Amino acid sequence: MSKFKVAVIVGSNRRDSINRKLARAMTGLVESRLEFEFVGIDELPMYNADLEGNRPDSVNLFTSRIAAADAVFVVTPEHNRSIPAVLKNAIDWGSKPAGQNVWKGKPAAITGTSPGAIGTAVGQQHLRQILAVLGSTVMGGEAYISFKPDLIDASGAITNDSTRGFLQAYMDGFAELVSKLAPAR
Ligand code: FNR
Repeated sequence: MSKFKVAVIVGSNRRDSINRKLARAMTGLVESRLEFEFVGIDELPMYNADLEGNRPDSVNLFTSRIAAADAVFVVTPEHNRSIPAVLKNAIDWGSKPAGQNVWKGKPAAITGTSPGAIGTAVGQQHLRQILAVLGSTVMGGEAYISFKPDLIDASGAITNDSTRGFLQAYMDGFAELVSKLAPAR
């Protein structure tokens, strides 16, 4: 049987993003069950309703890739106790026009990392709220990852056994959610 397709969105446009590292490591934990496609958001222009009716190609490409996915996995930094503007911008594009909201009915999992002690907890609360309003089914549970320089090794593996076990369970839960909800879309 073919695997369900998951669009991965990293909420950072920073070249050495720690969230992109985490996203790679976490997707690697369930690659046997889910097929992941990283969907970039850096090239999107700032949302402007004046562009509706003649959307830029970058926007059409982005929304078509999300629409084609069975589910979405968002791994994001926290900026000033919310989500980064680059991520909010991508979500806004995907939410319009109202009849073509690409987030509606999508199973989603969210996580994120920052060097701070509460590892993006506040930003993730905002993200959960936004995606829920848009009609995504956001997986329950919480994964707030406080980033340490040795958390992920050069090969992309999560070094700490307990953290790896926790994140494995999180991603296994996501694979279960996707397999339950995606066929019903
Ligand atoms: C931050 N950072 C940050 N960290 C955090 O834990 N809570 C916060 O509210 C913020 N706010 C914030 C605002 C802005 C404008 C910047 C640039 C940074 C620090 C942030 O966690 C750190 O830069 C991470 O490295 C960002 O993740 P990426 O971009 O490396 O994936």
